[in-house]
Amino acid sequence: MNSFIPAAAIDGHASPGALANDEIIRLVDVRRRFGTTPALDGISLTARRGEIVGIIGRSGAGKSTLIRCLNGLERADSGEIHIEGRDIARLSENELQPLRRRIGMVFQHFNLLSAKTVEENVALPLKIEGVTKAERLRRARELLELVGLADKARAYPSALSGGQKQRVGIARALAARPALLLSDEATSALDPETTRSILALLKDINRKLGLTILLITHEMEVVRSIADRVAVIDAGRIVEEGPVWQIFANPQAEITASLLSTIRPQLPDHIAERLSQTTGVEAILSIDLAGPAAQGALFAELSAALPHSFRLVHGGIDHIQNQPVARFFIAVPTRDAGLPAKVTDFLTARSARVEVLGYDN
Ligand SMILES: Nc1ncnc2c1ncn2[C@@H]1O[C@H](COP(=O)(O)OP(=O)(O)OP(=O)(O)O)[C@@H](O)[C@H]1O
Ligand SMILES: [Mg+2]
Repeated sequence: MNSFIPAAAIDGHASPGALANDEIIRLVDVRRRFGTTPALDGISLTARRGEIVGIIGRSGAGKSTLIRCLNGLERADSGEIHIEGRDIARLSENELQPLRRRIGMVFQHFNLLSAKTVEENVALPLKIEGVTKAERLRRARELLELVGLADKARAYPSALSGGQKQRVGIARALAARPALLLSDEATSALDPETTRSILALLKDINRKLGLTILLITHEMEVVRSIADRVAVIDAGRIVEEGPVWQIFANPQAEITASLLSTIRPQLPDHIAERLSQTTGVEAILSIDLAGPAAQGALFAELSAALPHSFRLVHGGIDHIQNQPVARFFIAVPTRDAGLPAKVTDFLTARSARVEVLGYDN
């Protein structure tokens, strides 16, 4: 057996290695073109051991191409793709095989074999590796236990719900004790409640096994609830990247703000539609603040400093990675023409980002 495969038990999943900064993935300027379409246009990205990294982007951004380059199903035209310190872009097909086993894949449509039982599906990757039947089944049962499906070992996939099928898919992806799990829209075919349970399972596995997970998704909720870091990909480029709470609190790129509009409070349409850009009896302001800045009693202080200076229109406080991320819309009367500027100065001095969106009557 190749030296890349550690003979570790579940708790020894992610094999210790002497990697710089513990980087499981390091991509350097990866490019892949289809005809005239640059599907990947110079991607550089790292993921450290035990990290959950989300990749978001609209349809056609290059997310699946990136995953296929990472697991060696697709060859990059240029650039470096280091998995656990080895550049797979330089490996031959034969050399790639053992490395692929260090990578588990979870798919949107589960890809289970319908003629095989649940435990046979889970054990399949080990059969290819030449593990004995008794050992394969022992391992399959252990993994089914981990994903909460021990009682379905002998069932066939057709007898399972979508969420249960995905649990089997996750157990199968873990069979060969990968260091890295790649998930391409694993929850996109599931309802919200089942999605939450699958995300909780992925987080649990990440903690228990120290597994690095790269999550590709167009669902912001997936990234919000379990990723540590997020990279936004657009037209084959990473347009922004950082800790999830920071990116969600303060998206810089327009594409990021647009993707996040489904889960960040937005000014209600009926108000946005009637805003004037020049005059009105109230100025409508958006207020963003996050992290330590969002912990104070901001509105109480604003009321005390400038009585009757605003009313709350919309918004709320989310908590992402244990950090408060707040976004509010307020209306400030313009009777006193200087009031919107005073309110803005007060809030800005307390690290809020304030924008005057327009004027309402
Ligand atoms: N085998 C291929 N042949 C030609 N063009 C391709 C091929 N694979 C991908 N592309 C093109 O590369 C670009 C990126 O595709 P990719 O599948 O990576 O997008 P994606 O971000 O996964 O989108 P989605 O969210 O819809 O799954 C698209 O313009 C796509 O049409
Ligand atoms: Mg895709």
